[in-house]
Amino acid sequence: MFDAAVLSQHFKAAAAASGRDASTGYYGPSRRFRSRDRRTDLSAFSEGACKVLVAAVEAAFADPQGGSLSQGWKSSMTNKKMITIATAVITVFAIITIAAVMLRSSANAQSDESHYMPQYTSSGEMILPKNNIWRTWVFVGAPLTPNALNNGAASFPEYHNVYMQPWAYEEYTKTHEFPEGTIMFKELQLTLPPPQFKDGSRQEPSGRGYFGGPFNGADVTVKDSKRFAATGNWGYFDFNHFEPKLPMTKVLARDKCAFCHIGSAKKDEVWTQFYRILDQP
Ligand code: HEC
Repeated sequence: MFDAAVLSQHFKAAAAASGRDASTGYYGPSRRFRSRDRRTDLSAFSEGACKVLVAAVEAAFADPQGGSLSQGWKSSMTNKKMITIATAVITVFAIITIAAVMLRSSANAQSDESHYMPQYTSSGEMILPKNNIWRTWVFVGAPLTPNALNNGAASFPEYHNVYMQPWAYEEYTKTHEFPEGTIMFKELQLTLPPPQFKDGSRQEPSGRGYFGGPFNGADVTVKDSKRFAATGNWGYFDFNHFEPKLPMTKVLARDKCAFCHIGSAKKDEVWTQFYRILDQP
């Protein structure tokens, strides 16, 4: 009969390949916006499903007495039942495989490159987008608060390179509203050391000024009116003000970040007054 242990082993492997990250306990974002990893997940799942199928067929046709397949086939009426069961199993897995292939093509159509959405762990921490993907987004501006001009320790040192997803930018230019799921990703970057002048500036061939040095952590805001209603529809995350950035981090209380944005940012908690392309889209 079926080898239950073999079947369950294969099935577990297929399920594991289908999405759960053992290190974070994270199951992935909503179906609609699953990342490009999902394509690999799905092929792994199909592969897993095929293994289960093969194991099931082998188990169904194996003779319990250890005889060959054909002897087992001819020798007993119970084998007919096995064939029926095997057919049922084949049908079920064929359906699973077809479903997986169909889901895979829909994932291709809506990959995270074209519509990146914030991702969270099961306990609600925001996950740092992978592969520095924000650096491929729309660059909206770079306020600069050098340490040397802020008693040696700026609150957000020093360049604030701000990015948002291209799809969100496109929608903003049409509606003048930040859509749900917008991420404002502020990557901090130090000025190029060593400073040559008291104000931290340097003389370079293009002139005296500030030049890009090492990356220095990130602050991030996310628009989600359901999740972050308490802080005016935006969630605030500090991924460190130094490197390396945290792989994930929890949302911060109103009195840590949101109060200041709510108080003086020009548009919907975003300081559009400092980003020309958002202030005059
Ligand atoms: C005292 C006021 C203040 C506090 C507190 C504050 N911010 Fe900001 N934040 C600003 C200002 C001003 C800007 C725009 C100018 C700049 O970056 O220098 C900004 C810009 C940002 C941006 C870029 C997008 C935007 O809204 O312009 C992000 C992301 C951000 N802050 C996240 C955070 C996070 C996360 C915290 C808490 C850890 C925080 N901020 C705390 C004043 C504040």
